[in-house]
Amino acid sequence: MSASTITPWVVGNWKMNPVKADALKLIQDFNSLLNNAPIAEEKCILGIAPISIALTTIQSELSTANRKVHTVAQDVSRISGTGAYTGEQSAELLTDHGIQYVLIGHSERREIFAENKDILNAKIQNALNAGLTVIYCVGESLEQREAGQAEAVVLQQICDIAAVVQAEQWRNIVIAYEPIWAIGTGKTASPQDAQAMHAQIRQGLNQITGYGSTMAILYGGSVKPENAVELAACPDINGALVGGASLNAESFHQIAQAFANTQ
Ligand code: PGA
Repeated sequence: MSASTITPWVVGNWKMNPVKADALKLIQDFNSLLNNAPIAEEKCILGIAPISIALTTIQSELSTANRKVHTVAQDVSRISGTGAYTGEQSAELLTDHGIQYVLIGHSERREIFAENKDILNAKIQNALNAGLTVIYCVGESLEQREAGQAEAVVLQQICDIAAVVQAEQWRNIVIAYEPIWAIGTGKTASPQDAQAMHAQIRQGLNQITGYGSTMAILYGGSVKPENAVELAACPDINGALVGGASLNAESFHQIAQAFANTQ
């Protein structure tokens, strides 16, 4: 399988947005766009990551779409199982509620919530052991890029998790490359820069795991309809993790179409 035959993923990361009425409207609008202009499941895997309290509501709204749209948790506890851990949601409880996907390692969690390698590895291990598919986010800061360290930083973030991922679990990991300086800023990595980093990531994955050439590597950071077609045309960019633009049903649908059209 060459990288360009990997089914693309387009996942909306709603972050700490929106209010309930807007969330429901967003899903209804998205469902009708999918009805009017269907996107075949085999051409693009779709997911939406709402706030945790809305996971099951959004999941049930999405179940009325004319195709599978996965509901993705934005976070998972580093503690597994059940117990006296106020405020936490374990991987097992997520799967118990029918949630099968989770974001781990987003730069906002790394930076604002001080999630270091040990915390992220515990989360990844728990999530994979519970049967969740993990969208693992990596990316460099502007300072690191300007210092010529972007590749080293990103490859280290991939190597960091290798210690806890068992060989056959790599097939349940999707990588999202999100340069921090491109998130929510309107600045996107050029398709050439993004493709170059994705190729490096794939090469790194190939050295670590036998699944590198079949793993989806998504790009994230100010993806919008205006740049989605160019990003989607890059052979090692297998989809997008979309923040701001996923809060608009039409934009999100157009981005999904751009990636689906590559298949
Ligand atoms: P953005 O966010 O599309 O708003 O830049 C992407 C992300 O943080 O996942």
